[in-house]
Amino acid sequence: MTSAVRRIGILTGGGDAPGLNAVIRAVVKSAANADIECVGLEDSFDGLIYPERSRPLTPRDVTGILRLGGTILGTTNRGNPFVYPVTTGAGSADYSARCVENFHKLGLDALVVIGGDGTLAIAYELQKLGVPMVGVPKTIDNDIVETTMTFGFDTAVAFATDAIDRLHSTAEAHHRVMVVEVMGRYAGWIALHSGIGGGADVVLIPELPYSLERVAEHIRARERWGARFSIVVAAEGAFASGGTVTVKTAATADRMERLGGVGEQVARALEPLTGKECRHVVLGHLQRGGWPTSYDRVLATRFGSFAVELLQQGRFGVMTALHPPDVVAVPIADVVGRTRKVPSDSDIVRTAKHVGICFGD
Ligand code: F6P
Repeated sequence: MTSAVRRIGILTGGGDAPGLNAVIRAVVKSAANADIECVGLEDSFDGLIYPERSRPLTPRDVTGILRLGGTILGTTNRGNPFVYPVTTGAGSADYSARCVENFHKLGLDALVVIGGDGTLAIAYELQKLGVPMVGVPKTIDNDIVETTMTFGFDTAVAFATDAIDRLHSTAEAHHRVMVVEVMGRYAGWIALHSGIGGGADVVLIPELPYSLERVAEHIRARERWGARFSIVVAAEGAFASGGTVTVKTAATADRMERLGGVGEQVARALEPLTGKECRHVVLGHLQRGGWPTSYDRVLATRFGSFAVELLQQGRFGVMTALHPPDVVAVPIADVVGRTRKVPSDSDIVRTAKHVGICFGD
């Protein structure tokens, strides 16, 4: 099947992830080679609400961006056109019809939407109003269903692993417990992978609620056989058995709740339980910044290029996905509103346990 797609819009939405620029570059270059024009929409759907915030993108405009973090188009996680925050009057406005109108005014035939679950869900709703789209999954959290990997994850894990490596020497020198809080929202992928890759002693993930007493006993046992330091990696969404996630900022109409603080809580609680000095470090947005790893650049390039193939075939309402060794298309309807969590009986969790990592479960 071929389609009459001749001009497309590209946008990046939600939190940034290393590799966004690599996708933009791949889309623009692949499209140019297929005689399809590209228009970059700035700051997520803002570029459709305010069409003056759009610009043509040619191969010349994307030269040299493969290795850059962030996104040349800008992004926001507060720009849902269905509940757009307005500064005057009360609360929010529905700008979805305006988006559809501007989509046509800009002469676009389809959108490539690069985003996480929230952004893809918005795009899917716009498609129902007549805006054909293809999605590209993005998040450092790796929590999008129907794809085994999102770009950005490998870079975040590499950064967190490096941080854990560095914390080992200072923890050992001071005979301390170092608690490292990593991102990941309600999934423990970053904590699990960086914990294994960095040789952590304890990994706390949302999928396996922990007992602090069990964690403390693991640290005390290490002390008994002569390891006088321990590294604990805590996913920001981890919580104690019977407890709840640590929320930094409550959700509002147009934004999700922000997690954070579990690392500090765990470090404080472990001091009296272990009799050891415990410190915490929050890696935060450093995990999202900087250049993408080569793995993420390749995955992002494959996704971007395949998105253009899908547009050419007239296959809309789908998302590019990695089903190793292939990149395939999956229906967006199967993706939105779901979260890909670490299966508690997966080989990777068993592997971690086999090599002595304690989950406190
Ligand atoms: O989804 C990516 C992510 O970095 C999460 O890991 C984290 O909880 C959240 O975004 C932080 O969002 P913000 O930058 O808006 O505070």
